[in-house]
Formats: sequence, structure tokens, C-alpha cells
Amino acid sequence: MAQKEVKTIGVLTSGGDAPGMNAAIRAVVRTAIAKGLKVKGVMRGYAGLLQEEIVDMNSSSVSECINKGGTILYTARCTEFTTAEGQKKGAEICKKHGIDGMVVIGGDGSFKGAGKLSALGINTIGIPGTIDLDIACSEYTIGFDTAVNTAMNAIDKIRDTSTSHERCSIIEVMGRKAGYIALWCGIGNGAEEILLPERYDGDEQQIINRIIDARKRGKKHYIIINAEGIGHSTSMARRIEAATGIETRATILGHMQRGGSPTCKDRVYASIMGAKAVELLTEGASNRVIAYKNGQYIDIDIQEALMMKKDIDEEQYYISKILG
Ligand code: ADP
Ligand code: F6P
Repeated sequence: MAQKEVKTIGVLTSGGDAPGMNAAIRAVVRTAIAKGLKVKGVMRGYAGLLQEEIVDMNSSSVSECINKGGTILYTARCTEFTTAEGQKKGAEICKKHGIDGMVVIGGDGSFKGAGKLSALGINTIGIPGTIDLDIACSEYTIGFDTAVNTAMNAIDKIRDTSTSHERCSIIEVMGRKAGYIALWCGIGNGAEEILLPERYDGDEQQIINRIIDARKRGKKHYIIINAEGIGHSTSMARRIEAATGIETRATILGHMQRGGSPTCKDRVYASIMGAKAVELLTEGASNRVIAYKNGQYIDIDIQEALMMKKDIDEEQYYISKILG
């Protein structure tokens, strides 16, 4: 079968935003233009697609964005697009606007939508964009590097005051289902405890015993990094204070971890992934996700990518425990 020639590429960001998404959008736009293709920006993810919020993009549409957090295309979650009717409507709108290739920047949910668009005749490529690092096929996701550095710097500051007041501090970082941000900060901040959704057994008494032992050994602070998926940081702080007699405070870092100027790594990796997505589309590829694995950028079938499972790196987890 002859390969479909792609003439107009659409690009959208979907799900939770992540610093570095703008670098990927910029790379898609400028690579496409360099290859003589037209580019259309789809605003607000699949929600904007269904509302036909589609704008022409040129080289200057992506000026001054590489250093900015968030996404210039905005993002949204869209229940309608999870239905067969919504997906059919989305594909028809793409065709109406001449979009024959689409780049979807987002997480696993967004890739499910990308797979549907692909099945409906719109050549579609996914780029992993999430601060959670929870995309199984890729060792890198756009935004994780910035998010862990933002969280690490915040935790360093909390540690200063925690030490001055000789307190215990529970710091909740993002990651509703995935503990990678907590694990990396646990190692990077030298935390005494890390509680990951993938590993925590709920045994608070053991934590209390370790806090009491540490205080007896003369430790001035006790940093517990709690992933969002464990939650209950404030009530946990109250219980720990009551059981140990040590003043305990909870800080929930929240959405500040999703914002801010992207790190160099996030800008560079996102730029390369954006350029690669356009190259794949011009080669006639569809239903693929770009991934970073063993030092290389590769592409994988979307359904295969969605079936892969990722777990916490056991060695990293072990190291975080012995160092803390
Ligand atoms: P992420 O892409 O970060 O995993 P979500 O899970 O919120 O974020 O998914 C983003 C969007 O992708 C959803 O709001 C929805 O529009 C679309 N989506 C999610 N699951 C599906 C699905 N099974 N089929 C089609 N679209 C989906
Ligand atoms: O971007 C990823 C993430 O931060 C998850 O850790 C969290 O579960 C989710 O987004 C929360 O997103 P929101 O508050 O936008 O619903």
C-alpha cells in the first residue's frame, strides 16, 4: 500500500502540563516548516480539538517559548474524547482542517487517544510529556528533570528550617500513582524516609521508632518525603508528633512542581523528540510513541507501549534506604 503523504501536521498537549512541552511544540513547528509542511496548533488538547480550536502556526508562533514552563497550546482533560463518537468527531475535524498528521504530547491517557486517532486514519505520533516519569516505554519523560530539581530545591530550604527548629518534616511531592519524584528527591535531598505508592506498607509505627532512634543518636531533623499517592501528610504529621513528642510539620509542595523554566535537559530532549516526531510522520509512520532508552531515541507501537509496565528501580530504592 502506498504511504500517505503528510502535508499538514497538527500538534497538541494533553493531560497534566510539564516544563519542556513548549520546547517540543517549538521543535515540531520548526522541523515541519523546514520540511515544507504546514503546521496547525490544536488548543486545549482533545477538548480543543472537539471545539475546533485550531490555529495556524508559523516559525514566530513559537518564538520566546523555549524557556517558559507550561504549554503555549494550553492543556485539558476531555471525557468526550474517550468515547467512540468523540474520537470519530475528532478525526473528522482533523480531516476538515487538512490535518493528516498529528503529534500528541502527553502521558499514557493521551497516547490512548492518539492510538484512536491513528486507527481513524490520522497518522499520529506520541511524545512522552509528564513530570511523573511513569511512561513505561521511556527512561525519560518531558518535565521530570525540571520537576525533581524544583522539588529538590524546595526540600533543601525546608531542611534548613527543620534543622534550626529540630523538627521532623513531612514533605509531600507529586506522583499520585508513581513514586519517581519522591525516590529521586529522597536520594538527592538525603531524606531519612521516602514513602512510595509502589512500596509503602503503611507501617507508621516503624517510622516512629526510627524517628525516636535518630533523635537519640543526635539527629537534628528528620525528613520524610511522601509521594502524593500516599497522601495524608498533615494527619501523619499530627500522629508522629503525638507519638514521638517531636514537633512535626507537613508541607505539600503541590503544583509548583509542574511549573517553572525547564532545565537544559528538558529543553534538549524535548526538542529532539519533537523533531523526531515530525521525521516519523514524513516517513509515513503512525501509531508510534517516541521513547528514550539505553541512550537512544527510539519509537514504539502505541499499543505495545501502553502494555509495558514500569516499576521502581530496586537498586535506587535500596540505595536511598541505606543512605538515609
Ligand atoms: P495523561 O495523558 O497525562 O495520562 P490523562 O490520563 O488525564 O493524562 O489523559 C489525557 C486525556 O487523554 C484525557 O482527558 C482524554 O481526553 C484522553 N484519553 C484518556 N484515556 C483515553 C482513552 N481510553 N481513549 C481516548 N482518549 C483517552
Ligand atoms: O502531572 C502529573 C500529576 O502531577 C500527578 O502526579 C498528579 O496525580 C496529577 O498530575 C494531578 O493533576 P491535577 O492536579 O492537574 O489534576
